[in-house]
Amino acid sequence: MALDRKPAPNDLNAFWMPFTANRQFKKNPRMFVGAKDMHYTTSDGRQVLDGTAGLWCCNAGHGQPKITEAIARQAGELDYAPAFQMGHPAAFELANRIIEIAPKGMEHVFYTNSGSESVETALKLAIAYHRARGEGARTRLIGRERGYHGVNFGGISVGGIVNNRKMFGTLLGGVDHMPHTHLPALNAFSKGQPEHGANLADDLERIVALHGAETIAAVIVEPVAGSTGVLIPPKGYLEKLRAITAKHGILLIFDEVITGFGRLGSAFASQHYGVLPDMMTTAKGLTNGVIPMGAVITTGAVHDAFMGGPEHMIELFHGYTYSGNPVASAAGIATLEVYKEQGLFERAAELAPYWADAVHSLKGARHVIDVRNEGLIGAVELEGIPGEPTKRAFSAFLAAYEKGILIRTTGDIIAMSPPLIISKGQIDQLIGTLGEVLKGLE
Ligand SMILES: Cc1ncc(COP(=O)(O)O)c(C=O)c1O
Repeated sequence: MALDRKPAPNDLNAFWMPFTANRQFKKNPRMFVGAKDMHYTTSDGRQVLDGTAGLWCCNAGHGQPKITEAIARQAGELDYAPAFQMGHPAAFELANRIIEIAPKGMEHVFYTNSGSESVETALKLAIAYHRARGEGARTRLIGRERGYHGVNFGGISVGGIVNNRKMFGTLLGGVDHMPHTHLPALNAFSKGQPEHGANLADDLERIVALHGAETIAAVIVEPVAGSTGVLIPPKGYLEKLRAITAKHGILLIFDEVITGFGRLGSAFASQHYGVLPDMMTTAKGLTNGVIPMGAVITTGAVHDAFMGGPEHMIELFHGYTYSGNPVASAAGIATLEVYKEQGLFERAAELAPYWADAVHSLKGARHVIDVRNEGLIGAVELEGIPGEPTKRAFSAFLAAYEKGILIRTTGDIIAMSPPLIISKGQIDQLIGTLGEVLKGLE
């Protein structure tokens, strides 16, 4: 890598960085200038093992030639086509390929550019679906405490992470929340799905009784809550949510933005848990994170409810300039091919028990109060420093980066979600280095 062609910018002031401690960063920047397979290259020439697949998105690792070549080819052939009232082949091909790997019953794909937009799209679809069927009073949306559904107004309204909500006014009306499923006193150090907590889904019955089912459009949950610090669904919980929503005619939306595309060892969490929602929101791994793209995947019934009017009429007044962008579509097709050719979903399933043992080996390490895992996701929860929440985990993040591994922290929780190409040796390196980092923490 010719680092001299990519000097670090000499003024960091103009770029207001997202979800970043800007002042801390700009005093001591951490800059990536290259990436290949499992590693990033830093601006000071070090290799950093990617323990987080970027931001849960580079499931096939970095620099997959098939994806980069597909992007270059498509950009040269057809760079852009209007997304409204015009089509191009790649968007249709990708939709078919997504449906091929989606759970049976999922039949249609609506393109977006991010997870946040997928969430907004799914929430709007849910309300419009009921209206199209003559149930226009179903407008309420139910989320869950500690949920993360991106950063747009619908997503933060149904989301349940207080810092993402409290700065932004009154948010959407007509939203309620189910309780989160984190029960450390009962479930700490569970391997995979915890035993306790399926009954928390019954709270949905209380919400239905309070508002009336005929006012509720949809329930949205992450099958595995990621950004809040990895909460694995208790055994039987998702099944109960499905049963209660079906009983009351409420749509169930799985936000699969991080669980989609192999993270749990199946294409989607829906297949991993054997629970079929009405819609799934996706992004990230759809294009291996290389180019922004998201997609909402729906059942035939959701789509067909819109198809009743005159044929020359637009059925859904929603969409983005870049919905199904040709270059993003080409990246998506190539990404799904890479997953298939390299058997990466199966690989994740095979590695999962090894990963589980490795992550749980940190039980008993300094400050560790819980360890959680599912598929190739792991979380290590630390006891916070009294009066200084988040500080201990953030120190761990900085020390880990110095020692050559990339982890993510949220609150005092360390989350890991490596690319599915990770080797057992690299798992040992990641967890071993983290163990050393924990030993050195205040
Ligand atoms: C479950 C879930 N939904 C939505 C999003 C938002 O995705 P994006 O950042 O692409 O808007 C994320 C991002 O981490 C996520 O984890």
